[in-house]
Amino acid sequence: MSLQKVTANKIIEKKKKGEKIVTLTSYDYAFAKLVDQSGIDLILVGDSLSMVVLGYKNTLAVTMDEMIHHTKAVSRGVENAMIVGDMPFLSYKGDINDAVKNAGRFIQEGGAEAVKVEGGKEIIPTIKAMINADIQVMGHIGLTPQAIYQIGGFLVQGKTVETAKNLILTAKELQNAGVFSIVLESIPWQIAKLITRSLDVPTIGIGAGPYCDGQILVLHDMLGIFKEFKPKFLKYFENLSERVQKAISNYKQEVEQEIYPDLTHSYDFPQEELDEINSWYLKQSFVKNEKKP
Ligand code: KIV
Repeated sequence: MSLQKVTANKIIEKKKKGEKIVTLTSYDYAFAKLVDQSGIDLILVGDSLSMVVLGYKNTLAVTMDEMIHHTKAVSRGVENAMIVGDMPFLSYKGDINDAVKNAGRFIQEGGAEAVKVEGGKEIIPTIKAMINADIQVMGHIGLTPQAIYQIGGFLVQGKTVETAKNLILTAKELQNAGVFSIVLESIPWQIAKLITRSLDVPTIGIGAGPYCDGQILVLHDMLGIFKEFKPKFLKYFENLSERVQKAISNYKQEVEQEIYPDLTHSYDFPQEELDEINSWYLKQSFVKNEKKP
């Protein structure tokens, strides 16, 4: 393990010191390497993979095997950031032994150092079983996209006194179960602030306002690659889709107009042997009425 490697303890330490925890998702080697080299603390191989990379209409479609495949690619690109594998729909809410085995695959095959699970009280025994198997767990409450059909869409959660109380108590229960941090997704900032104050483990917000201990965004959202919908909390830090399209249309134009490749982008045959190959070529039977090259 590299000396710089971010661990769950270091992340908890950051909360104690009042230092912000900066996290992002990644899904492949190339981007994970860039994210890691930018000094991001934690990389989540999110099940948002399903939508932003694989093109499914929600996060429910992605499978364990697809998640493992992408987690492996991410871990090949990362030296320092802590890597968390996001457990996909149906991989942890049935049989507890299956859940532990699936979590173990992220560590053993994928090279992740922890897993993330969505939910509250109903998964406390599962979280405890994972931790007993030496697997570190991150919680995720508020808007839990794997439950969108139950929730009725990508809706802000915890907007009533009752549901807000429930979120605060659930966060405490997750902490008591042993999670090392909790993602708070799409909840009012005032409630996220209360949760953050009430916990020793860090909160990582996405659509949960500025008072969380850290933040996470989906990489393809913040880079402006995936633009199929834009929730209120999302800020585009780049407009990569436009820049990529511009680069591709420049390439197309240059090839069509015979600008690219020019000779500076081409390999040379040795000058001293050029006459020999040209005269050999002209003597070949397949060369009919061609002029000397
Ligand atoms: O899948 C994902 O990218 C996530 C983050 C939005 C927290 O769960």
